[in-house]
Amino acid sequence: MSVQVEGSGGVFSWRSPMGSLGRTLVVLVTATCLAGLSACGSGDDGKTITLYNAQHQDLMRVMVDAFTKQTGIKVELRRGGDPELANQIVQEGDSSPADVFVTENSPAMTLVDRAGRFSKLDRATLGQVPDQYVPSTGNWVGFAARSTVFIYNRGQVAKNELPTSIMDLAGPAWKGKVGVAAAGADFQAIVSAVLAVKGEGATAEWLAGLKRNAKIYDNNIAALRAVNAGEVPAAVIYHYYWYQDQAESGKDSRNVDLHFFGHRDPGAFVSVSGAGVLAASDQQAEAQRLVAFLTSDAGQKALVDSGALEYAVSDAVPTNPALKPLSTLDPPDIDISTLNGPKVVELMQRAGLL
Ligand SMILES: [Fe+2]
Repeated sequence: MSVQVEGSGGVFSWRSPMGSLGRTLVVLVTATCLAGLSACGSGDDGKTITLYNAQHQDLMRVMVDAFTKQTGIKVELRRGGDPELANQIVQEGDSSPADVFVTENSPAMTLVDRAGRFSKLDRATLGQVPDQYVPSTGNWVGFAARSTVFIYNRGQVAKNELPTSIMDLAGPAWKGKVGVAAAGADFQAIVSAVLAVKGEGATAEWLAGLKRNAKIYDNNIAALRAVNAGEVPAAVIYHYYWYQDQAESGKDSRNVDLHFFGHRDPGAFVSVSGAGVLAASDQQAEAQRLVAFLTSDAGQKALVDSGALEYAVSDAVPTNPALKPLSTLDPPDIDISTLNGPKVVELMQRAGLL
């Protein structure tokens, strides 16, 4: 027979050819776990917290495993998209099983924050990252960053034809020539930056232009593949999709170059992934420890080493040298806690992009 105990800290396997001895040991293992002793797993008291995870699953698996290794606290991941899980948390209210919420982009954090569903974060946690990754409420914290990037097929777009602003993509020169993953939370965060920088009128006009010009893709990877294949000459995505493909086979990006808008254009938007502790959690201390870990040197190093190729936000941990340095991106100055996800959805629906 075999006994297998699987947790986020790893898999423990034990085999015995003898049925009765095996059964006795199963009982012993179970009793030990129930008693909260160390034989259960990673040297902890057997606590498990629940993470509503809207970030990429592979990245969070790596970060959470490093957390469990350090603290012994296990983490159960429940997966969903930014707006989906944010709305779920608000709907579940006090009965939400979530202890911690992690997103790809900050508009979903703001939605939960405005509904009053977050606890205050420990000050020491907020102090682990530069100020621009801390919202004014102090109720959540940024732990990863991702840059907007214009990608183009180098056989179809000449360097002197590159747009100087993301706003240019609404003009007639780009009709049928640009791809976007309109339904994705990533692209919607970029639209929220346009809204924050340019205001509602200009954003509505820009979206109407995109509706005329853009080809719509299911997600960023589909847009990258389409540009690589020459199906559409250009697209707007986040940087790590291109860098990840380059680091693997390059098969979906070998004909594709990157153009960073820079000069504080809304197209140079750097989106922030957030983490927060839910007010309804009955494991506040453990939940605070997870968010503290994500922003700690060890957590940030796990992010960099994960191969996700997102940017670390801590000044203390150098980002992967393959990336264009975060300090050179020259993004627009945006308060990450003001980005308005629901308004973006409304404007995109009105423009016919959703
Ligand atoms: Fe993404």
